[in-house]
Amino acid sequence: MLKVSRICKGFSSQALLKGVSFEQSEGELIGLIGPSGQGKSVLLKIIGGIIEADSGTVKFEDPQGGAKDLSESTGFLFQSGALFDSRTVLENTIFPLSQSRDFDYEEAAKKAYNILSEVGLSAHINKLPGQLSGGMRRRVALARALVSDPELVLLDDPTAGLDPVAANVTMELIESLHRKLNSTTIVVSHDLRRLVPRVDRLLCLFDGKIGFDGTSKSLVREGPTEIKDFISTRYDFAEAS
Ligand SMILES: Nc1ncnc2c1ncn2[C@@H]1O[C@H](COP(=O)(O)OP(=O)(O)OP(=O)(O)O)[C@@H](O)[C@H]1O
Ligand SMILES: [Mg+2]
Repeated sequence: MLKVSRICKGFSSQALLKGVSFEQSEGELIGLIGPSGQGKSVLLKIIGGIIEADSGTVKFEDPQGGAKDLSESTGFLFQSGALFDSRTVLENTIFPLSQSRDFDYEEAAKKAYNILSEVGLSAHINKLPGQLSGGMRRRVALARALVSDPELVLLDDPTAGLDPVAANVTMELIESLHRKLNSTTIVVSHDLRRLVPRVDRLLCLFDGKIGFDGTSKSLVREGPTEIKDFISTRYDFAEAS
């Protein structure tokens, strides 16, 4: 169980996150949505331990209630993609494994190759990111986020800037790999048409807090008006029912 409690974060005395709390069961797939600039990326980085909150806590508990340290078991896909341009697809994918204390190159290369095959890139492992299309680069970033079979997977806007076909491929991969690996997963996306039908639950970040937490169907019925208004410009509710 991931427990995010009363997270507050501001930049230069401007409050951004004003007490964000939610819980996520192990293996659950959550979509985190909300207008641009609301702090979705900042929240994801706080959950992933990349930046520190001003206050509040992020805890992961095993089913017995004991605390778990997930610093070595979190996969992150950054909004910027952030591949190493001078390293091959295989080397980029191996990178998170190379950070571990018991790194073994052969074993890591095998794992990297397997996940690259899952995302359809086995024929491109020796290419540099600059030799790939945008959609392929995003799939490398996805492979890199998943290569260590992490318990917690945080994906920040994985379809941003992709054409509709590549965006479909990427979102479908996220769903099928989630089903296979069963990691606790949060996907941030503006691509509601592709995201909403695939997630168990939606969180909407609004005015520094979780303004809505529930299924897309309950959002249609009982979501706050300002959040429905935000969503209705991007997603047809009729598709959710
Ligand atoms: N390191 C930082 N220093 C100062 N301000 C920051 C920093 N990181 C984020 N911010 C500010 O926090 C706000 C929220 O940023 P964030 O990137 O989390 O928004 P977002 O919800 O992910 O938006 P988008 O949907 O456009 O990706 C922005 O105003 C941004 O300028
Ligand atoms: Mg963002």
